[in-house]
Order: sequence, then structure tokens, then C-alpha cells
Amino acid sequence: MSSFLEDVITGLKAPQKSLSSKYFYDEKGSRIFQEIMNLEEYYLPKCELEILENSSGNILDEIPFKELDIIELGAGDGSKTVIFLEEAVKSGKHINYIPLDISGEILEVNRDLVKARIPGLDVQVLAGDYLKTIFQLKERKQARLLLFMGSNIGNFPGESAIEFIRFINDFLSPGDFFLMGVDLKKNPHVIRAAYNDSKGVTKKFNINLLERINRELEGDFDLDSFEHYGVYNPLTGSALSFLVSLKTQKVKIGENEITFDQYETIHTEISQKYSLKDLDKIASKTGFEWDKHFTDEKGYYSLSLFRK
Ligand code: AVI
Repeated sequence: MSSFLEDVITGLKAPQKSLSSKYFYDEKGSRIFQEIMNLEEYYLPKCELEILENSSGNILDEIPFKELDIIELGAGDGSKTVIFLEEAVKSGKHINYIPLDISGEILEVNRDLVKARIPGLDVQVLAGDYLKTIFQLKERKQARLLLFMGSNIGNFPGESAIEFIRFINDFLSPGDFFLMGVDLKKNPHVIRAAYNDSKGVTKKFNINLLERINRELEGDFDLDSFEHYGVYNPLTGSALSFLVSLKTQKVKIGENEITFDQYETIHTEISQKYSLKDLDKIASKTGFEWDKHFTDEKGYYSLSLFRK
């Protein structure tokens, strides 16, 4: 059995049905995610860009090293990071930029874009699962700044966010830095709207997960009989997405049959929001001795710098 099939069946046979959000990003899902990034209500990329434009210099001022490996996990096309890299080069640092991503194709785009803007920069791309490829960088002698942008930390459920940051801390050497993009707790209406956009793009993004199962795993989900529902709980800081079965139904996935009660839910995603105080606690819990936050004007989003 493929691991996608295995995960889908395990998730849909559990008492609370769930599907992992990592399966959102097939080709169609990645295209829909780009649409989300351009939505008025989805404020996250705009905030991150604002911080990069206004505070890259201040962030770099905290990093004393003249020669630095900037390693980016899940780097994508690098279109935002290049702003930070330009500022780093301007500040007189010698930078080796090492973007890591599962997609070799997107890394080509990244390298071309970064090289076009900063021709002299040393760029070394590394394709594959970054949890594995990162170890190829373990022996390098330079000081490191590890980047994990885009609020991707929010999609790690529960304690796994802490475990992931501990993993980063273990990889780094004393004195190295970690810069993480984090979506902050804020007016709940703003968060709720970001995951329930008026054009229905987030709904399309969620429903595509069922479409993907139909396409790749011989599923027969009736897409019109599932609704997308996004909630934000200000008590926990969790934005949660669900697909709700609008009727009692049976769905075939290859040889397997899954039954749904009317209004039964599939939990598809968590997008955890943090406060700056939460982040201070996380920094010390995961072995970092110092942290500082750089936010946008509205205080919606933070680029949080941790030093080991
Ligand atoms: C990729 N990740 C940070 C997005 C988020 O905000 O959790 C994924 C997303 N899901 C719905 N809209 C955007």
C-alpha cells in the first residue's frame, strides 16, 4: 500500500476522522494555495513581506557573523527571501544561501530568481525531504542562520511543533540562529476570515483533498456532499479546518469502504496561532538561550529570531 493510501485509510477509519494537511499540495492544490496567498483576507504573506521589507536590516544587525550559511527549510521560489538576502549582502556579510525543498523544480526557479537579483551570491540548492537532506550540511564549518518562513510551523499539530523546533536546535551549534515566520494571536474575526474567504478558495483547497483521493486512490467521493468549515478558537489559538459530510453516505477508496454519518467531520488542518509570550516560552523550552521578535505594524505576524 502507498503511504498516501495508508494514511488516508487510517485517518478515515479513526473515531474522529482526519486527513493530513501535507496531502493538500499536489499540483492542483499548490496552484490553489497560490490563489489563497493572493486573497485579500489571507493577510499572512503580506505581513511577512512587510517585515522583510522594513526589518531585514534590524534582524541582520543581531547576527554578528561576517560569513554565514543561510539555510532555508521549505524554501519554495525564494521570492520573499531574496529581499532578506539582498539586505544581508548589502550589510557586507559573505553569504552562502542553501535553499532546501522537496521540489527540485521549484529550487531551479529559486536559484534563477536569486541569481538574477544577486549575481555574485553563492547558492547551493538541496532537493528532497529537508528532515533528511539537512544532515548533509552538518559538517559545514560556517555559522548558520536557519530560516523557516511562511508560518509553516502553525501546521504542526500539538506537541509536534515543539519537537520540530527541538530538532532544529539539535542541528544548530551554539551561537547559530533560527528565524521563524509565525502568525500571531489577534482579533479572532480576522483569523476566521482568513480561513473562510468570501471567494470560496479555501473551500476549493480543502475539497481538492477529496478530489485528489478520487484521482490517485480510486476514490468515489461525491464532492458536492461535503462542506468546508473553518473555525478559530481564541482559547487555544487554533484555527481548524473541517470537511463536513452533508448526508449519511458510503465512500469507496479502492478496496476500502468508509461510512459517514450526516454531519460527521473530517479534520483536515490546524493553523496554530501564537502570542509573543508563547514564543518566548517555546524558545526556552526548545534549548534557545535568547529570542527577539520583529512584527509588522499591525502586530499580526512575527519573524522571531532565536539564538542557540
Ligand atoms: C501553509 N500554511 C501556513 C497555510 C496556513 O495558513 O495554515 C495553509 C493554509 N490553509 C488554508 N489556508 C492556508
